[in-house]
Amino acid sequence: MKKSIINIAIFASGNGTNAQAILEYFKGNDAVKINCLYSNNSKAYAITRAKNFEVETRSFSRKEFYKSTAIINHLNSKHVDLIVLAGFMWLIPTQLVDNFTILNIHPALLPKYGGKGMYGHFVHEAVIKNKEKESGITIHYVNNEYDKGNIIYQKKCAVLASDSADDLANKIHRLEHKHYPETILMVIEKLLS
Ligand code: GAR
Repeated sequence: MKKSIINIAIFASGNGTNAQAILEYFKGNDAVKINCLYSNNSKAYAITRAKNFEVETRSFSRKEFYKSTAIINHLNSKHVDLIVLAGFMWLIPTQLVDNFTILNIHPALLPKYGGKGMYGHFVHEAVIKNKEKESGITIHYVNNEYDKGNIIYQKKCAVLASDSADDLANKIHRLEHKHYPETILMVIEKLLS
């Protein structure tokens, strides 16, 4: 049966500016519902952001995430069609990868600057240290390895000699907030077609 509504779950570990951009972008869209925001960090500001949009939130421990079916059961109870990682820093367990379409955003031009330990500010510090002339964002499907799933979209930005890691983080965030919601919509249109 053709679906008419897509339910999205956001997973976020920290500040949640990407979660906020996604929540704003899909607010009022009848075909796309952000169902729940999940976090491995009960103090994540992303949780507050979701609550401001009256979106249900749920946090979990490492044990619950990796060693039980609690999260998958909850996702199923919410009829989630698509999981969107928005600054979520844990490796996704096989049982989730096998059962859901999952997207991630990475703050660099994969395959460069990806892999275990390469996240958030560590990425920007490495890019600056290596005097790269460009960086950017990568939106990709999630598989069993860190940052290795098929790439859906990339966008570059210049790295100036004068840029600090914070400057680069700001440039990257601006790109993410514009292009992640748009790319999610593109993936949804495929799911609905
Ligand atoms: C974003 O820049 C995102 O690309 C990155 O964490 C930041 C989260 O910011 N994700 C990764 O590094 C994943 N490997 P936010 O909490 O403000 O959205």
